[in-house]
Amino acid sequence: MTTRVALIGAGGHGLSHRRVLQRLSDAGQAEVVGLCDRQPVEPHPDAPLPGVPFFTDHTTLLAVARPEVVIICTPPHTHLAIALDVLAAGADLLLEKPPVMSPAEHTTLAAAVERTGRICQVGFQALGSAALAELCVAAPAGEIGVTGAWWRPDTYYRRAPWAGKRTVDGRPVLDGALVNPFAHALMQSLVVADACEPGFGPVSIELERYRTRDIETDDTTFLRLTGTGERRITVAVTLASPVFIAGEIRVGDAVLEYPTDRLRLPGEPEFQHVPGRIGLMENLLEHRRDPSAPLLAPLARTAGFTAVVEAIVAAPPPAEIGSRWLEPHPDGGGSIVPGIDRLVREMTDTGRLPSESGVPWARPGLRIPIAAPAKVH
Ligand SMILES: NC(=O)c1ccc[n+]([C@@H]2O[C@H](COP(=O)([O-])OP(=O)(O)OC[C@H]3O[C@@H](n4cnc5c(N)ncnc54)[C@H](O)[C@@H]3O)[C@@H](O)[C@H]2O)c1
Repeated sequence: MTTRVALIGAGGHGLSHRRVLQRLSDAGQAEVVGLCDRQPVEPHPDAPLPGVPFFTDHTTLLAVARPEVVIICTPPHTHLAIALDVLAAGADLLLEKPPVMSPAEHTTLAAAVERTGRICQVGFQALGSAALAELCVAAPAGEIGVTGAWWRPDTYYRRAPWAGKRTVDGRPVLDGALVNPFAHALMQSLVVADACEPGFGPVSIELERYRTRDIETDDTTFLRLTGTGERRITVAVTLASPVFIAGEIRVGDAVLEYPTDRLRLPGEPEFQHVPGRIGLMENLLEHRRDPSAPLLAPLARTAGFTAVVEAIVAAPPPAEIGSRWLEPHPDGGGSIVPGIDRLVREMTDTGRLPSESGVPWARPGLRIPIAAPAKVH
């Protein structure tokens, strides 16, 4: 029997979910019973989803289309209220990352999941990686480092009303280099830490946030996370780099390039691509059919992530990297920090932060205790 599926937040990143839904619909595994968005959404040639009803209000969609599974792909600050409505309507949930804004919201949502007996999978698609699974089984010795260097032009911060913001219309919103684009890297590193030291949880972070442009959040984040075990996680990510580093989780001598599923285990000379990534929607449908098939990204698995994210966004505003340390990107569209790709690598190799390494634009880091990760009651 096919499952009745709906998507709330069909524009923006929702297109990637429409593509998955088109594929599952073509394969007879899902019946797409509704799309919802506040704005008009044009059919895409890859995902025309012909004849699927469109709604501008999610409560009407839930009442009229009666989906069994709902994907929520709206801005993060809208997730909790919509997710509670979906669960109350008796549907299972694929909730985009970051799932919620705070550990308090996590507790509220987890309680609703338990009360309704529904399923909540979170949109950390990199948790479906076979390369990650292999790294977790190997559980190598050594410190954990997270490195990433991307370029995002100024237009990236004009794509949505909440992009680059701390608040919109007086309401907190969630954005920042590590909180949003590199969220998968943080989540992967917490999962790896837990595999290496079962029960690992974040205890405190030392944080340095920077911005190269006129935004309220950071576009360059450095963080050293101390956990319940011996390992530390050092994170260095930027969106202001002329040189691209896709995103790496290093554990001692092992390296996982998480966006591409390339893995190099200790002693191996080269990266190997590890095929076999499992889609979150496919996994959710499988888990509904057979509960013994484990869910890849259950809400409970994201409690530590949300606790770290709350600590980052509650910290004072990021420090500006002065214009004398910047250069225009060769293609225009904003500024880059020359050599930032080498700096992010150096920080994760050494476990140091810029302020401890003589970086001229660095400011002292902030030590922040992490609220105890919310438990599923
Ligand atoms: N998993 C990933 O790799 C990945 C990548 C990008 C974005 N995301 C996540 O996807 C979500 C959406 O991101 P985005 O960049 O597309 O945001 P966006 O601001 O472009 O919003 C997506 C869509 O939701 C609609 N929307 C907003 N409020 C709504 C509501 N109350 N009801 C119905 N529709 C509503 C908007 O009109 C828009 O079309 C965020 O949680 C983001 O973090 C995940």
